[in-house]
Amino acid sequence: MIVGVPKEIKDHESRVAVIPAGAQALVSRGHTVLVERGAGSGSGLPDEAYAKAGAEILPDAAAVYARADLVCKVKEPLPREYPLLKPGQVLFTYLHLAPAPDLTRALLDRRVVGIAYETMETADGRKPLLEPMSEVAGKMAVHVGAYYLAKPLGGRGVLIGGVPGVPPATVVILGGGTVGYNAARVAAGMGAWVYLLEVNPVRLRHLAEILPANVTTLMSNRMSLEECLRRADILIGAVLTPGAKAPRLVTRDMLRLMKPGTVIVDVSVDQGGCVETTRPTTHSDPVYEVNGIVHYCVANMPGAYARTATFALTNATLPYLQQVAADGWRRAAQENPEVALGLNVVHGTVTHPAVAEALGLEYTPWEKAPATP
Ligand SMILES: NC(=O)c1ccc[n+]([C@@H]2O[C@H](COP(=O)([O-])OP(=O)(O)OC[C@H]3O[C@@H](n4cnc5c(N)ncnc54)[C@H](O)[C@@H]3O)[C@@H](O)[C@H]2O)c1
Repeated sequence: MIVGVPKEIKDHESRVAVIPAGAQALVSRGHTVLVERGAGSGSGLPDEAYAKAGAEILPDAAAVYARADLVCKVKEPLPREYPLLKPGQVLFTYLHLAPAPDLTRALLDRRVVGIAYETMETADGRKPLLEPMSEVAGKMAVHVGAYYLAKPLGGRGVLIGGVPGVPPATVVILGGGTVGYNAARVAAGMGAWVYLLEVNPVRLRHLAEILPANVTTLMSNRMSLEECLRRADILIGAVLTPGAKAPRLVTRDMLRLMKPGTVIVDVSVDQGGCVETTRPTTHSDPVYEVNGIVHYCVANMPGAYARTATFALTNATLPYLQQVAADGWRRAAQENPEVALGLNVVHGTVTHPAVAEALGLEYTPWEKAPATP
């Protein structure tokens, strides 16, 4: 199979979907790997390293898309990439379609096979390709929150760990999955008082066992949330319903319960956000203020720590990429239910039930999707 690796073009997105070691693994199995010039440079991976691994370096994205059977990316295609997609081409990347009707329409019109990293799930409910980026974003969310808590940046002027005789900041985390757990660990390690709200009682029990004593776990409901909003200096949004839009837990009205200068880091922005006033921002212009509350809603947070994130992501994606490259998307989906769960669009149909429901589109099981584009 011909595997294409374009350079990411989202604002300040420096990750790359395949590293030279991955290219070499694919080439050694008989595949052709096409890498756009400079694709790895933001992660410290020069073209020469890819060439040495056996990849072909192409001058631009158009050349990569034109020849590739499978395009492997990090972020969803942007409008200027839509026309490059070919019918029947496999697109393996984060897609986050539920809050993105225009992107979904473009993928349906281009009749591609879209396998989304974020909806792939193991039998025990893990999301193996979301996990590594959620680990990065969870840890990073606390750094970002602590930074914007500084007075000159619009925050309350509270130092996250406090000092002797002065209490630390209170960090409230909504959702105790991978983002929430990692955020809680870092915030607790920095000395904050941490409240972690989760709906799954089994998960809550586990978190209570493994997290330090300065993390209080709470069942997530309207009452516990409102109480926490009054106390928060930093609020981290980390809830997820796979494939669906994030539940809107904090309404615009509820911002009034919060102290001016509180910082919201809504990591779940890529699924629409769990705060009503969330709108996606970029690394170039990451924050805005609503009713005195600072909002940080960057949809590709790990892009900022590209080198760590690229290695973490590709460690997780490569085995699946190899399977799809070796077997084709259909056989890979038949043999591996995790790949099947990643199928969001196939040849003009929506093949993930939660994506279809979120967008009000018809759901077609992938086995019943048109066999050809
Ligand atoms: N912005 C970014 O750059 C970035 C990076 C990585 C991940 N993310 C996003 O962060 C979000 C969280 O990812 P994750 O890997 O931690 O997901 P996860 O599935 O591991 O965790 C989500 C948790 O939210 C809980 N939850 C659901 N509804 C809830 C509610 N009403 N109250 C409290 N908890 C609730 C679930 O039970 C689950 O434990 C996702 O939307 C993911 O795409 C964003």
